[in-house]
Amino acid sequence: MDSSNLMDKITALCKRRGIIFPGSELYGGLNGTWDLGPVGTLLASNIKNEWLKNMLSRGDIVPLDSSILHAARVWEASGHVASFTDPMIECKTCHERFRADHKAQIKEHESTHDKTLWTEMKLFNLMFKTFIGPIDNEENKTYLRPETAQGIFINFKNVVDSTRISIPFGIAQIGKGFRNEITTGNFLFRVREFEMMELEFFIKPTDGTKWHEYWKKERLNWYLALGIKKENIKLIDLPKKDIAHYSKGTSEIWYNWPFMGFGELEGIANRGDYDLSQHSKYSGKDLSYFDEKTKEKYVPYVIEPSVGVGRAMLAFLLDSYREEEKRIVLKLNPKLAPYKVAVFPLLANKPELVAVAQKIYKDLRSNFVTLYDGRGNIGKRYFAQDEIGTPFCITVDFQTLEDDTITVRDRDTMKQERIKIKNLLVLR
Ligand code: GAP
Repeated sequence: MDSSNLMDKITALCKRRGIIFPGSELYGGLNGTWDLGPVGTLLASNIKNEWLKNMLSRGDIVPLDSSILHAARVWEASGHVASFTDPMIECKTCHERFRADHKAQIKEHESTHDKTLWTEMKLFNLMFKTFIGPIDNEENKTYLRPETAQGIFINFKNVVDSTRISIPFGIAQIGKGFRNEITTGNFLFRVREFEMMELEFFIKPTDGTKWHEYWKKERLNWYLALGIKKENIKLIDLPKKDIAHYSKGTSEIWYNWPFMGFGELEGIANRGDYDLSQHSKYSGKDLSYFDEKTKEKYVPYVIEPSVGVGRAMLAFLLDSYREEEKRIVLKLNPKLAPYKVAVFPLLANKPELVAVAQKIYKDLRSNFVTLYDGRGNIGKRYFAQDEIGTPFCITVDFQTLEDDTITVRDRDTMKQERIKIKNLLVLR
């Protein structure tokens, strides 16, 4: 498949089928924002559920849901006020601004002007500023969080003191993050508002390397188990010059994006004791941990796998997208499929067929996210379900009225099997 227009095709499919809409489209759009439609909301929710289930089923990870706004001191302590910056240059002719390290975009821009003159590179802080309360002054200034991680660090002691958990243990959080990116693009890949799934796994400092290796493999396996093709995903270790200010070592899971080849999908950092130590220093509170087993006191190290829900969603959409002779199909893992099953009456103007189809729809709905469709012809209905990745379609036809059987069509093979309605219960 031609990879250059694959992104356009995916974007169009997402709009057409209620997966993702451009943010503020009615008012001409708002750069770097996207809205999840009904189908996309279900897909994102399934991705988040699979992530959280994977974390919580282990027994050594607890969830957290901290606020988006933190005291400004949190961001001073974390180093984000000083260091959460990207290098920026501006075109003196048209005043468009670019990331100084995004060479391809700079080259493309240069090709549109006879002679582009660039400003000196300066550092641009990516945090969105806001004010707490009715007075817009420096004292009331804070930031929309650019990562959820700090909400975990500032609650580390609360969690240790209020639960029975002991090191090694993790705190998992899913929530919105905001970054005033200099340039956005490639659909969900680089946006200004996005949900993040972040785990902070607290460990004994001497166990840093062991747990870093462990989480690299765990996270890669999560994607593989959910159907990402082996040839499209890999792990890499970043060179020291490319790692964030807080990191002792960062690895990344790279996906083979159609617009850039292999590039970051998820980061897995060894943050050392940087964050807890900084918060101890700035808050004046002791955030060290007393290990009951070894009778040692230490500031724990932390391993952090962190991924954007939208970026993961884009990878799952791209990886599952197929153009076949007569259809487009999303071969999503059934766990991620927005709707698990769709129910149709063969003809929508036959009340006896509609009644049975509605009854099946109602019965399935309590256990599965189910769709009912009576519009258009049956071929179009299958086509619509293939495009949103629904694994099974059930059709009620005239034979149903005689022998209580229905057809079940498999999304991937397109084969139809006739089974008794009562046997649908095996799906439960
Ligand atoms: N707490 C660690 C952290 O924030 P990061 O590498 O800056 O690390 C983590 O971000 C993940 O969030 C990335 O691997 C990517 O999946 C996602 N992400 C980061 N910036 C993004 C953006 N502007 N748009 C969409 N996703 C983004």
